[in-house]
Amino acid sequence: MNTVKTINENLFVEINDITICYNDSGSDKHPIIFVHGFPFNKKTWHPQFGFFSQNNRVITYDIRGFGKSTSGTKEMSMSQFADDLVDFMSHLEIEKAIVCGLSMGGYILLNAVNRYPEKFSALVLCDTQCIADSLETKEKRQQSISNIPEGGLADFTESFIKNIFLEETLKNEQEMVDKIRNTILATSVTSITTTLKALADREETCSTLQDILIPTLIICGKEDKITPPLQAQFLKDGIAHSTLSIIEDAAHLSNLEKPDVFNKELANFISKLRL
Ligand code: MLT
Repeated sequence: MNTVKTINENLFVEINDITICYNDSGSDKHPIIFVHGFPFNKKTWHPQFGFFSQNNRVITYDIRGFGKSTSGTKEMSMSQFADDLVDFMSHLEIEKAIVCGLSMGGYILLNAVNRYPEKFSALVLCDTQCIADSLETKEKRQQSISNIPEGGLADFTESFIKNIFLEETLKNEQEMVDKIRNTILATSVTSITTTLKALADREETCSTLQDILIPTLIICGKEDKITPPLQAQFLKDGIAHSTLSIIEDAAHLSNLEKPDVFNKELANFISKLRL
């Protein structure tokens, strides 16, 4: 039977040089922690927070520099974001968690699972990949880093949005698209440019896939152009105890474009875990 839980929203915790803002639906020791992509915030996990908090403790948080979390003084990098996650867990006295990351959230988790394997009991990698940026992608990011400080975020935001959603979503799901647009536009220029650099500088994690020994679910929107199904298949081939779910009629934000299918796949995976 489902129980009604008190959901604590916009809680704050100080870790090292930053304040992390998070939502937390409970106090069990073994939560599911969701890690958002770039350049979003914890609100992009809204359909998952509502659904999974009926039966699990769910935590969503804003990565350093995004949403309501502060930027601190340390340089942005996937390793720093991974360290922040592990420090955040320690501050909440969480010894182990199921973790689910989308796109950059997945880059962060692949880094974190590699360096702190004892902290994680199961891994969910959504619309993500283990390769480093190609030269072309690095150049595109560099172009944005040069253009944004003078030109602002409007052009960057519009071309980003065109790339992440299906045509139908852009046409018919105005409210969802506007929420994402406003999220990007509300992010500080410095957070966007320093994280673009962190993304361009990130190292590949494909060579570490064989070391991942925890149950892993890989989810990818069939029409994802940024981290396409081919990359999801590569993760599946490299991670021993993994399953792959390709979601039809979804692009890069599969958790928002097809929340029901996404939640069903994730719930099915969680129900089989022996924790
Ligand atoms: C994301 O959604 O986190 C980004 O699109 C990832 C990327 O640009 O590589």
